[in-house]
Amino acid sequence: MCGIVGYIQTNKSLNSWKLVFEGLEYLEYRGYDSAGIAQIVNNRVEVTKAVGKLANLKRKIAKTPFSLSNAAIGHTRWATHGKPSIVNAHPHISSNGQVALVHNGIIENASRIHKTVLGGKKLQGGTDTEIVTEALAHILIKEKDLSKAMFKLVNILEGSWAFVAMDINDSSKIVCARHNSPLVIGLGENYNFVASDVIAFVNHTKNAVEIKQDQLAVITCEKVSVFDKHNQEINFTSQKYEILWDINQAQKGGYSSFMEKEIREQPSAVRNTIYGRRTNEGIIELDKLSFDKSYFAQINKITVIACGTAAHSGYVARFAIEHWCRIPVEVEYAHEFRYRDPIVDSKTLVVAISQSGETMDTLMAVRYAKEQGAKTLAIVNTLGSALDRQCDAVLYTYAGREIAVASTKAFLAQITACYLLGLYLAEIRGNLFIDEITTKLQELKTLPDKIAKILTHYEEICQFAKLQKRQKSVLFLGRHIGYPIALEGALKLKEIAYIHSEGFAAGELKHGPIAIIEPGQLVFVIVPPQNDRAGVHAKVISNIEEIASRGARVVAIAEQGDQTLPKGITKTFFRPKTPILFSAILDIIPLQIFACSLAGALNLDIDMPRNLAKSVTVE
Ligand code: M6R
Repeated sequence: MCGIVGYIQTNKSLNSWKLVFEGLEYLEYRGYDSAGIAQIVNNRVEVTKAVGKLANLKRKIAKTPFSLSNAAIGHTRWATHGKPSIVNAHPHISSNGQVALVHNGIIENASRIHKTVLGGKKLQGGTDTEIVTEALAHILIKEKDLSKAMFKLVNILEGSWAFVAMDINDSSKIVCARHNSPLVIGLGENYNFVASDVIAFVNHTKNAVEIKQDQLAVITCEKVSVFDKHNQEINFTSQKYEILWDINQAQKGGYSSFMEKEIREQPSAVRNTIYGRRTNEGIIELDKLSFDKSYFAQINKITVIACGTAAHSGYVARFAIEHWCRIPVEVEYAHEFRYRDPIVDSKTLVVAISQSGETMDTLMAVRYAKEQGAKTLAIVNTLGSALDRQCDAVLYTYAGREIAVASTKAFLAQITACYLLGLYLAEIRGNLFIDEITTKLQELKTLPDKIAKILTHYEEICQFAKLQKRQKSVLFLGRHIGYPIALEGALKLKEIAYIHSEGFAAGELKHGPIAIIEPGQLVFVIVPPQNDRAGVHAKVISNIEEIASRGARVVAIAEQGDQTLPKGITKTFFRPKTPILFSAILDIIPLQIFACSLAGALNLDIDMPRNLAKSVTVE
């Protein structure tokens, strides 16, 4: 949450603020409640801020253009403390005019700092960031050097932060520090960047340096110096890496939204996650493993922790892993997990699923699980993210960058990775024979083509969605592996189309929720394959009859050739024949397209829905 960018260069031939603005545009997915840029020009600060999206900031800058300058910092905000307003927007400038600072995170002891360091002095807005900006300026008066002052400051803070700060009297350097929030430096020739994510500067340099937990960095035009938590300068060669992807991945590529582009990229997200995992001997391998594989044979429980869409992929995983490995799988929202005194010990494998790898709730749950002696395994899309580093084992999803706030291709890749994990465990634990695993892998490999086939119906689903603009409420029903898909379909619709929607276990309907069915109510129903072996197909058909007879307009997601669907169904979208355990990955696609198309028809900002941000980096 919140995106920050800093830029410093030798000369002023390029507009520093423009490069910072460009970086913020790529980071806008992290928050869009307000934005701002500050730069130093002849020992004075120029700052422009605007409430709302970056387009508002752009308009303001056009009216009062910035001067040329060699250093600038910028921020795009997702509000935690304090409403979105100009006063609360970053960069914050200290009241003595000496410090400019941007911050991503939450300072938990801000009010104590306000009292102890600032003597409770009167503030403009009173956000945690305003307090630390004032505190940094206060400390700087004595320390004289911004990096020394930053070191003193972070030593008295609690919470999470990525800071980028400038001393208005010294435009030769930018100082940054991090604790629980990401920061990465982009190395150039006679210029350097720092940002929350490499996406902000990958267009200019592919040479990056990850700032690690509790490190502090001083960035000048020609040099980067990194200090550890004792303020000792360190050799940071091992923190350097080359960015291997291209800026094209962060562009819409001709589609009207990133969400549509990402929905259409799902065949390759699944394909890339499957391939390259088997050794010549036919064994599935994890991407990282810091303990002996034999541990997996000794575990007696798997606990999946995740949030939002990632948690829904965990619910799908439970069906496959329990069935193949005969081991209990619990799925729990990460934010609930550690507060209920869960039973976790050295025989529990905790699987944390996350697209960003930065979700604070998930990171905290992993930390808790490790403290209880559990081994942790991450299924994560972002290489080098906090979750990637924190877990004992890792299975990457290769969905590529996901920009739209509503997660789509990462979800399919997460389910795919869960299937692979299930087969990996089944192999080690001896639950399945190698030929059974091979057959399932072959089936898995057919999924990208089946996804592509469903995508050929994109326009048809879109046209149907456009006719539903007046819906005030949409319900989603599923049984067995279709239930998490109902939850995910409802989540997609509420987060981007702002339409009340709920996912129900179809069998639960008659225990209460059926009371809300009125004539005309739109209900999506996930119909399992006919020969599902779990015996749920017939039950779901009955559920359709129950709601249709009460006037519901039913949209079925069903298997190609299913002749048993009741008459009077409003619309059916078909999926190619697939075994029930793999069907979830196909059934969600029409629901994603429906939500995306309906939000588009309602003229809503599909990629940046209100009140949300892509990565939730606060608890
Ligand atoms: O980055 P993560 O996968 O950890 O994020 C988890 C959720 O915040 C995320 O899936 C969220 O629910 C999405 N906006 C759903 O589309």
